Amino acid sequence: MRFGYFDNKRREYVIDNPATPRSWTNYLGSTAFGSVITNNAGGYTFYKSAAQGRFLRMPFNSVPMDQPGRYLYLHDHDQKDFWSNSWQPVGKPLSAFKNICRHGTGYTTIASEYKKISSEATYFVPNGKNYECWIVKVKNEDTKHRQLSLFTYVEYASNWNAQDDLINLQYTQYIVNVQAKGNIIDHGTNINLPELPDNFEEKDQGRHTFLAISGALVKGHDTDREAFLGPYRTYANPIVVEEGQCRNSSGVGDNGCGVFQVPLSLAPGEEKSFLVLMGVGAADKEGKAAVADFDTVEKAEQALEEVKQTWHSQLNNFSVDTPDEDFNNFLNTWAPYNCLITNSWSRAASLIYNGERDGLGYRDSVQDVMGTAHLIPEATRERLRLMLSGQVSTGGALPVVKPFAHYPGKMQAPSAEEYRSDDCLWLFNAVPLYVQESGEVDFYKEVIPYADQGEDTVFGHLRRAIMFNLERLGQHGLPCGLLADWNDCLELGQAGETTFVAFQLRHALITYQEIAELLAAPEEAAWAKTELEKVDQNIAENAWDGEWFLRAYRHDGLKFGSQENEEGKIFLNPQVWSIISGYADAQQQEKVLKQVREQLATDFGVMVCAPPFVKTDYTVVRATLMNPGMKENAGIFNHTQGWAIMAEALAGNGDQAYAYFKATNPATYNESAEVRECEPYVVCQSTHSKYSPKYGASRLPWLSGAATWLYYAATQHILGVQPVLEGIKIDPCIPAHWKEFSVQRIFRDKTLHIAYKNPEQVQKGVKSIELNGTTLQGQMIPMELLQDTNNIIITLG
Ligand code: GLC
Repeated sequence: MRFGYFDNKRREYVIDNPATPRSWTNYLGSTAFGSVITNNAGGYTFYKSAAQGRFLRMPFNSVPMDQPGRYLYLHDHDQKDFWSNSWQPVGKPLSAFKNICRHGTGYTTIASEYKKISSEATYFVPNGKNYECWIVKVKNEDTKHRQLSLFTYVEYASNWNAQDDLINLQYTQYIVNVQAKGNIIDHGTNINLPELPDNFEEKDQGRHTFLAISGALVKGHDTDREAFLGPYRTYANPIVVEEGQCRNSSGVGDNGCGVFQVPLSLAPGEEKSFLVLMGVGAADKEGKAAVADFDTVEKAEQALEEVKQTWHSQLNNFSVDTPDEDFNNFLNTWAPYNCLITNSWSRAASLIYNGERDGLGYRDSVQDVMGTAHLIPEATRERLRLMLSGQVSTGGALPVVKPFAHYPGKMQAPSAEEYRSDDCLWLFNAVPLYVQESGEVDFYKEVIPYADQGEDTVFGHLRRAIMFNLERLGQHGLPCGLLADWNDCLELGQAGETTFVAFQLRHALITYQEIAELLAAPEEAAWAKTELEKVDQNIAENAWDGEWFLRAYRHDGLKFGSQENEEGKIFLNPQVWSIISGYADAQQQEKVLKQVREQLATDFGVMVCAPPFVKTDYTVVRATLMNPGMKENAGIFNHTQGWAIMAEALAGNGDQAYAYFKATNPATYNESAEVRECEPYVVCQSTHSKYSPKYGASRLPWLSGAATWLYYAATQHILGVQPVLEGIKIDPCIPAHWKEFSVQRIFRDKTLHIAYKNPEQVQKGVKSIELNGTTLQGQMIPMELLQDTNNIIITLG
C-alpha cells in the first residue's frame, strides 16, 4: 500500500494519505534553530540543542502519535463545525477531508480541503533566522459567504529543558509565564532571573520565545493550555475551538500555550493569507523585529524560495541519471538531504532521539561528514576541526562533543573504562575524504588543540589515534575492544579483542603511510609500514576462522562470530572490512562474500550477525538484551549496508552490489509502505530481520550512519566517481543491465558531465576515458586537464 509519491522535479515527497503507518517527518532550520515536523503537523522546536534548548513540548512515544505540534484549527461560525488544517489532531473522516503534505528540503506544506474551505500552511525557517515562519492561506471555495475563525496552537515547554519539562513538574509548573501583548505572545520561563548567554547549559535562567501574527487582525488569545482545551478534552476537541471563541486566558504557571484567534470573513472565492512567526527571544524585541522583517506574505514567500535555493544548490553538486528512477531520486535528493540533516543533528533530535543523546556522538559525527564534504565543504572542514578538538591527548575521544558547550584544552578526558576502541579510527575515512574533495593538503598541517590538553597538527592527531590502538593490543595482538567498538553491544573490555577494529587499524596505517609520503615524512611512512606488517601478521594468525573472519575474542579467549558458536556464528563487519581495508585476497573475498550472501543477506538487507543471541548470557554479549532479529541482535543494521555494497563492488560484483543497494533503498518500499512503515524517502537505523515477527519493518528514521555510507557506497563505488588528490578516479561497478547512465558533479569548482557507455554489459572495468575529446590513459582524470566545464565519456568493457 502506498501513502504518497516522489515529486522529483520539486524535490518533494508528497503524502496524499495522511493516515501513514507512523509519523513521517521532516526537518526545518539549521543547527542554530531546528524543528522536527510530521505530516500531521506534530513535532517540536528547539534552539541549539533538542535537550537543553527545547521550547516546544513533545511527550515522546505517546498516543495519539506525534502530538502536540504546530496546529491551525478552523471554526465555522455558521455551521458550528471545526477541523484542523492537518488531518490530525481533529481527524475528520478522510472521505470528507482531503489532505496533502509536501515534505521538501527545509520546508513542509500541509494543505487540506473540507466543506468547501481550502487551507494551507507552509512551515520553514528563513535563512539565518532563529524563528519559524508559517505561511497560512485560507480560501472560500464556496458560492456563499463564510464566517470562520482560525486558531493557532503550540504548546510550550515549561522550562527550556526537555527532561525537566516532562518530569520535574513540582518545579517547572511554577516558572512558566506566557503573556499576549497585542499580536505577539511572549513565552517566558524564569523571567525574573537574568539571561546567561555564555552559559547555555544552565537551565535556570530567564528565557523567552515569541509567537506573532503578521498580516491579520487578532481577535483573542489563550496562553493557558487548560483554559484552551477544557478539562478531560484532547487536542481533537479543544473547548475554545468548539465554541469558536478565545477566553483570553493567561498562562502563568501550569502549562503555557500559544493560541491566537484570527477572524476570517471570506466572500465566495476569496483567499486570505497571513504569517505566523515563532522563535527565540522576547515579544517586545525579537518578536517585533520578526514582524518587521516579515510584514508581508510576499516577503515570506521570497524567503521560502531562498531556503529552497540554498538546499537545492547544495544538492546540485552531484546528480545522476540511470535507468533506475529510485536510484536517481535517492541520490539526487533524499540521500544527500538525509546526510545533511544527520550531520546537523547527529543522534539528538527526531521523534526517537529526544535529546537524551545531546551533542555530537564522536564516532557517529566523524562518519557523518563523509556524506557532506562535497555538498558543504566549508562547514565540513569546521565540523572536522570541532571533532578533532574532541580527541583527547591519549589519542582516544570524548564520547560526545557538544558544540554549544565545548572548551578545547579544558575538557575532562574519559576514564580508562570509558573509551571506545573505534572512535578516532573513523578520522582515517573522514579527514582524507575532505582533503581529497577540497585539495587542501595543508589541512593536515593545521594545528588543532586536543580536548583535554596540548595540541598537534591534524597529521599528529592521526598518529595519536593510531598509537591509542597500538598501545591497547590484546594477547593475540589485535586491538582491544574497550567499552565497545562500532557495535555498542560488544563490551569486550580492556583485554578482549576485536577483529573489526584490527581491519580499521590496518586501513588507518595504510592511509597514514600515504599521508606521510605526501607530506614528505619518510620516517613516519616507514613506521606505519612496519606497524602494518605486525598488524597483518596478527590478523593472519588469529582472525581467520576457516570459512570467514572471526568477530572478536573475549578476555578469556571465548570467540564471537566463529563456527564454534551456536549463536552469533558470523558477523558482517569483519567480512566486509577485510575487503574494504584491502586485507582479503581474491580467494578470501570470494569466500566471505559467499558466506555473507548465504548466512546474512535477506530481502530487506544484510543482517549484522546471525543467528541471533537468545540463550547467550547478557554478560557475554549485550545483544541478548534485544529481541531476536532487532538492531544489533541479528537485525538488519542499515549503517552497515553501505559496507556490504562497497565490499561487493570492490570484488567486482556489480549486480550483487546493486541488489544490496535496492534492498535497502527506502523508495523500493514505497508501494509496500505498510510493511516498512517508515518514511519511503528516509533511511532508518535498522530493519527487523527474518528472526523478528515484524520482518521488514524499519525503525529510527533519519539519524544514523545509514544515509552516509549508502550514499558514499553508491557514488564512489557503484558509480565509481572517486575524488583523489590528483583529480578524479573513475572506477564504477554497476549492474550489467545498465547500458548508459550519466553523472554530473562539481569538483573543486569545476563541472563534470560524465556519460557512461556500457555496450558489452559488463559490471566493472574501464576501457577508455575521453575528456573533452581527448582520450586518456588509465582510470584517472587529472586535475590539471580539467576545464571549467568538462564532457567526459567513459566506455566500460
Ligand atoms: C548506533 C550508534 C552508533 C553505533 C551503532 C552500532 O547507531 O549511534 O554509535 O556504532 O549503533 O551499535
